[in-house]
Amino acid sequence: MKSDVKNLLLNTKGRDRVEWAYRDMPVLQEVNSVLSRNKPLKNINLAACLHITTETANLLITLKNAGAKVACCASNPLSTQDDVAAHLVKDHGITTFAIKGINDRGYYKHIVNSLAIKPNMTMDDGCDLVTLLHKTRRKYLKEIIGGTEETTTGVIRLQSMSKNQVLKYPIIAVNNAFTKHLFDNRYGTGQSVLDGIMRATNRLLAGKTFVVCGYGWCGKGLAMRANGLGANVIVTEIDSTKALEAKMDGFQVMTGSEAFKKGDFICSVTGNINVIDKHHFKTLKDGVIISNAGHFNVEINIKALKKMSSKKRKLRTDIEEFTVGKKKVNLLSDGRLVNLSAAEGHPSSVMDMSFSNQALCSEYIVKNHKKLKNEVYDVPLSIDNKVARIKLKSMNVKIDKLTSEQTKYLNSWESGT
Ligand code: NAI
Repeated sequence: MKSDVKNLLLNTKGRDRVEWAYRDMPVLQEVNSVLSRNKPLKNINLAACLHITTETANLLITLKNAGAKVACCASNPLSTQDDVAAHLVKDHGITTFAIKGINDRGYYKHIVNSLAIKPNMTMDDGCDLVTLLHKTRRKYLKEIIGGTEETTTGVIRLQSMSKNQVLKYPIIAVNNAFTKHLFDNRYGTGQSVLDGIMRATNRLLAGKTFVVCGYGWCGKGLAMRANGLGANVIVTEIDSTKALEAKMDGFQVMTGSEAFKKGDFICSVTGNINVIDKHHFKTLKDGVIISNAGHFNVEINIKALKKMSSKKRKLRTDIEEFTVGKKKVNLLSDGRLVNLSAAEGHPSSVMDMSFSNQALCSEYIVKNHKKLKNEVYDVPLSIDNKVARIKLKSMNVKIDKLTSEQTKYLNSWESGT
């Protein structure tokens, strides 16, 4: 099957950027060198649906070096870096279907195209590829031994498939690895979402009111970093414990209806639908900047916003201004993940850990698939610990080891005061 990318001549720019990212991916470098030698993915056809970024390219090259035949497609219509897609095709012979700004029809067609590789394994980010396989391309299911899933929203969808007994092969939830969500979701999203908002708007955050919807792993990182830039942060939640955590972390916590009236910036990162909804739009501050960092573009009710507005115009590359009554509402990147649409996604250093988990889990599936059921599995702790160990080593950080006395103490129940 022939690749579909924007312009193959962009490959040299992509090559240099991919190399730059690789320099800050020491764990993946080590994983790559071992997998290249051992070739555990020999005879494996792998279909990957991921954000086509420089870090993803390094993962896909690693999987190819490990022996896999790889086809990939984008996991979001706006997150593709066209130069990276060109580099994958031209310099690595990886079949790629990804063009930034493609419409929904083209996006799904690309996923279907990537399945023509007849996968033995899938690697998904958001579960669109797995869903499509189970709904309309079931003929490919019989050759698949397992898969992996990158993000929270994808894991939620897979858990629902597993609960309803429709999932047809085992999937490892890479998102659930400690070395993934503690760093990628928290520090990665915290930094890159603000990077996206700043590149899109070039506005100062200091002294502004920044509303974060959702205080999960991503929301915590975003609130922490917005606070660090001098914004007054308000958190909205639906979970009492998370709301309490936000309050004790020093943030104001209130309902969406209250918070949205105050926000100069509002960013939703919940994985939920219509968090900023129809009834909120009229109450927003004039000039408010709203964005989404959750996986799908469903967190802001854009349909309602479009219906309610008397005028809309593109103000800057990633800003669309809507006139609602007398107020201006600025929507970033069509409500798609702002860090990947308006910036470059997470820094390589965190993707290093997420994608090393991905590569090592692929190897684990080849070795263990016969023992696995058609369920969603956590990343084995041995893989998680290995990733943390290599990362610490690369940072030249040494930690203590338990003494035998301490090991004995921790395993005993007899000794008290
Ligand atoms: P999480 O499950 O840790 O946190 C989500 C939080 O949102 C929870 O605390 C939940 O109670 C809260 N929430 C749900 N509905 C809400 C509502 N109506 N109003 C306010 N709060 C609400 O999930 P995590 O890991 O933080 O991920 C959030 C989303 O971000 C997911 O869609 C995930 O796939 C996506 N994601 C995006 C990344 C990016 O690069 N932009 C990176 C990693 C994850």
